[in-house]
Amino acid sequence: MIKILSVFGTRPEAIKMCPLVKRIMQEKEMECSVCVTGQHKEMLYQVLEIFQVTADYDLKIMAPVQTLGMITSRILNGIEEVLLKEKPDMVLVHGDTTTSFAAALAAFYHKIPVGHIEAGLRTYDKYSPFPEEMNRNLTGRIADLHFAPTTGNCENLRRENIESGIYVTGNTVIDAMATTIRKDYRFKDAILQKMSFSGEKKYLLMTAHRRENLGLPLENICRAVKRIVEEFAEVVVIYPVHMNPRVRQTVKSILEGHERIILTDPVDVEDMHNLMNRSYLVLTDSGGLQEEAPALGKPVLVMRSETERPEAVAAGTVEVVGVEEEGIYNHTKELLLNQDKYCKMSKAINPYGDGHACDRIISILKSYKKADAEGD
Ligand code: UD1
Ligand code: UDP
Repeated sequence: MIKILSVFGTRPEAIKMCPLVKRIMQEKEMECSVCVTGQHKEMLYQVLEIFQVTADYDLKIMAPVQTLGMITSRILNGIEEVLLKEKPDMVLVHGDTTTSFAAALAAFYHKIPVGHIEAGLRTYDKYSPFPEEMNRNLTGRIADLHFAPTTGNCENLRRENIESGIYVTGNTVIDAMATTIRKDYRFKDAILQKMSFSGEKKYLLMTAHRRENLGLPLENICRAVKRIVEEFAEVVVIYPVHMNPRVRQTVKSILEGHERIILTDPVDVEDMHNLMNRSYLVLTDSGGLQEEAPALGKPVLVMRSETERPEAVAAGTVEVVGVEEEGIYNHTKELLLNQDKYCKMSKAINPYGDGHACDRIISILKSYKKADAEGD
């Protein structure tokens, strides 16, 4: 029996880990417990409900305005008991959140091997995205198995002299999308339910939440979007606003009250994926949306100064447009006016996987355990 403990705590980790947890649970020779840190609350439980995954442990660490130190120390303290009780053969963590790093560190302190899902993404800028670039670097140093979504991610790790345990698997978000997107989908969110998504309107889906964008950059983003809506009568912006009070305050102060700017609470992942599928383009600073939208043929303007996901940029579906009002406004305007450019950017491409990332990860976990047993 291979005993796995999966640890996650935020919305995107849950979206990308739940399909894996569910697949592992189907395996006869594997056992999987789930520990959620509760770094997110509503936004995390929303995902668990959709995928019908029940957490065996919930550290419930979320506080209204939590600092990075608070998150890290509360996870380190809380998870110890879980590790001692479960004694897993491996701890699986995901990506670049503070949950991922703190859980990996805790497993290391207990000499438990760590598998890192979505490994090897890099910007090489220590402070951007913050603190994700450092979180994924440090998690990579600790991990024994590195599940890289793309060959580029794998090469990044090799350049860091990580010589073994790297596998290219694809991203599990593509596995997730196979279960969420439906042609005849009916929205659960009351506001989205009332929208027709047909006719002459152009629906722009927007999200922004990154820590390094809080304050002036987020203000710039909102102002640019407001200018676009005021100038183009056919544009409707839909923005499910992150629960972070600092995000909500800025967004509401600039964008609230316009009839063609629809601000909603975070929508569940099924609503989100199907909303993306009905939108004209995506404006975002999210990591996950940069992977999902290209698979649906939706152009993405990334409102950041860099990206750790260059594959879709190289393929022409994603453009990094910075965090200045003028740049965001100009790039969005161009995609509304220049049909040639829009058509070129809206070719569906998917550099992030074939929907079988979970299967690959499971077979690697099995071989790792077998090699370990033979070594004993
Ligand atoms: C976290 C991750 C980031 C990831 C993002 C996905 C870290 C440091 N950051 O950033 O990498 O891209 O999640 O969304 O790991 N809140 C709620 N309810 C929720 C979730 C959040 O009220 O369900 C509020 C709380 O006030 C919380 C704040 O949002 O203090 C910020 O949450 P936090 O997890 O610290 O940072 P994120 O910006 O969400
Ligand atoms: N998402 C969602 N509801 C929302 C906004 C986003 O389900 O209201 C999903 C989105 O489809 C993607 C993930 O959440 O799968 C991205 O999360 P987020 O942008 O918070 O984090 P990041 O990917 O930037 O770490």
